[in-house]
Amino acid sequence: MANKMWGGRFAQGPDAIMAKINASIDFDKKLYAQDIAGSKAHAVMLARQKIISRADAAAITKGLDAIKAEIESGKFNFSAELEDIHLNIESRLKELIGEPAGRLHTARSRNDQVATDFRLYVREAVDHFISAVQDLMLALAEKAEANASTLMPGFTHLQSAQPVTFGHHLLAYVEMLSRDLGRFQDARKRLNESPLGSAALAGTSYPIDRKATADALGFDRPTRNSMDGVSARDFALEVLSACAICSIHLSRLAEEIVIWSTSQFRFVKLSDKFTTGSSIMPQKRNPDAAELIRAKPGRILGAFTALAVMMKGLPMSYAKDMQEDKEQTFDALENIELALAAMTGMVRDLEPNKDAMLAAANSGFSTATDLADWLVQTLKMPFRDAHHVTGRIVALAEQKNVLLSDLPLADMRSVHAKIDEGVFRVLSVQASVASRKSQGGTAPANVLGEAKAWVKQLKGKRK
Ligand code: ARG
Repeated sequence: MANKMWGGRFAQGPDAIMAKINASIDFDKKLYAQDIAGSKAHAVMLARQKIISRADAAAITKGLDAIKAEIESGKFNFSAELEDIHLNIESRLKELIGEPAGRLHTARSRNDQVATDFRLYVREAVDHFISAVQDLMLALAEKAEANASTLMPGFTHLQSAQPVTFGHHLLAYVEMLSRDLGRFQDARKRLNESPLGSAALAGTSYPIDRKATADALGFDRPTRNSMDGVSARDFALEVLSACAICSIHLSRLAEEIVIWSTSQFRFVKLSDKFTTGSSIMPQKRNPDAAELIRAKPGRILGAFTALAVMMKGLPMSYAKDMQEDKEQTFDALENIELALAAMTGMVRDLEPNKDAMLAAANSGFSTATDLADWLVQTLKMPFRDAHHVTGRIVALAEQKNVLLSDLPLADMRSVHAKIDEGVFRVLSVQASVASRKSQGGTAPANVLGEAKAWVKQLKGKRK
């Protein structure tokens, strides 16, 4: 049987394989709420512009509300023969209200309809991310405030480099996330234009009011070019790229949490709520949430790549290729939101093991740079010479298996005769971090100030 929505000039129905490759209802049913909102805005506008009667618009609105309720209560019968969410809803509307249903599609096309639905969907997701990223930033900033002077080793090359505070380390992620937040906010501004009324591609001869539908749907304005309106998908690419970068940031923190929670590091304890046990090894506590977050960039970058490659080289304007814009995008949007929420919970519950962190901060001669700086500042040695002298002192401490701060003065003097007692003031990890007061440095006073400023700003935004 030919399609009842558009089959006028078709004598035959589609081949079974054609029906299968063509149908999108299995995934685009997710757009039902946006599709109904778009149709309601369109119907109301059509009546205001006297393109359809008020009575028809009222019937359409009522019917669409009923369909929404059917879908939400699981009573709606989605049909693959009706291809997609748009035709499924319109067909049901016809069953419910009869003839007026046929007037809804005046002055529009599925091309501007789907472009509108998809923008609304992506916009809603972005709004969730904007608040979810801020939730995570706040959790991190609060943990940083509580740990502004908790010492830990700072790493480069994952080798102990210089001592830092745990708070400083956490605030590095707050900075990354603040840029993710900016990317989402920025993408939202460009996304928030209404394609509705672009019709199939060329606009329409009916006296529609695109500003009215844009306003009704919370868009800032209508898109300015109907061909661009139906064929642009860069709004989704932009959001997916912001998701991908954000997921990469989350994966770095996730990886650190995995490392920190090993029995070798023991820097943090994760709560029962975000770990799992092993079915065979009773001693284990596995950081599954962190591992899954670490894995997410694969599928999220995959979604970006899928959409980018699908769009590449597509001629103007709409093409059915674009139906393939949705599945991976939905998946990526769902997964970044899940990852943000899981990370927020994990960070909130995470307990630092201050003794283990301090012990690690003390190992690896992490104050060697402080010794070199003392030689430069007190003995006026050129830094390169100081580096050399320090290297020899570190070698001595290593031989004797003691911390730099426990190496006898006589040993240091055997390397350089002018070193005096004063050097011990800079060799402890506490002194080392306290001295790093340069802007952006790890001194506890700096970290406390930064953490408080972030907490204040983030809490302020929520009110
Ligand atoms: N299901 C289609 C999509 O997602 C809707 C638009 C169909 N437009 C068309 N001219 N066949 O892209």
